Amino acid sequence: MQYDVILPAAGSGKRMAAGKNKLFLELRQKPILIHTLEVFQQDEACKGIWLAVKPEERSYIESLLAEFHITKVKGLPDGGSERQHSVNACVKKVKDGNIVLVHDAARPFITIPIIHKLVEAAHTKGAAIAGVRAKDTMKRVKDGVIEETVDRSSLWMIQTPQAFDFQVLKCAEQRAEEEHFLGTDEAMLVERLGQSVYIVESSYENVKITTKEDLVFGEAILSQRIGG
Ligand code: CTP
Ligand code: MG
Repeated sequence: MQYDVILPAAGSGKRMAAGKNKLFLELRQKPILIHTLEVFQQDEACKGIWLAVKPEERSYIESLLAEFHITKVKGLPDGGSERQHSVNACVKKVKDGNIVLVHDAARPFITIPIIHKLVEAAHTKGAAIAGVRAKDTMKRVKDGVIEETVDRSSLWMIQTPQAFDFQVLKCAEQRAEEEHFLGTDEAMLVERLGQSVYIVESSYENVKITTKEDLVFGEAILSQRIGG
């Protein structure tokens, strides 16, 4: 089953504090952005990639796409001040989509089997997102004091990809824009429509590269996968 993917890549990487977009930092001599793009480039079911970028980074990113032979990028619209705005800029560009995935460009370790499970679930159910079960004991805390221990069995840590029937995603983005609602992920916008969003169990390796320690995890994941 074919799909398009939206990759928001227009962030600043403030928490990484590298003095540049963290997606340009390298793991094993390759920019994080390229690691992520290569997964979709290699997946035959992926027919198009939409990349939200900062205008001042567009030409550098285009040069990376050429250098690493990434040929599936169909458009690089301007991102916005918030991640949701960057995703929405891409949603507006996608034409005749069937299944569309949204995936953080900062999650380079996603695998094709998980992507395909999400695409299948979105096809049959309309909306499906990647997540992993919470591992630690979870407590609700107020002003530094425990209020309660929360039942962990119902708690999931949510990742991307988040996969949708395109009409569902488009409708959710339009509604959020009209109502000036800012969510933390796309599923939240779809939940507001009253639509059920299903979970697909993902991998703890599908980390978002956010702070300096994540670069160490990233190198370790690559060493384990490809040796060395
Ligand atoms: N992103 C985006 N547009 C924004 C903000 C974020 O396209 N206005 C993208 C990032 O490039 C990243 C993904 O959304 O691929 C997830 O965001 P995050 O991990 O928060 O990255 P940054 O916003 O760059 O990092 P920080 O929050 O630390 O500044
Ligand atoms: Mg951010």
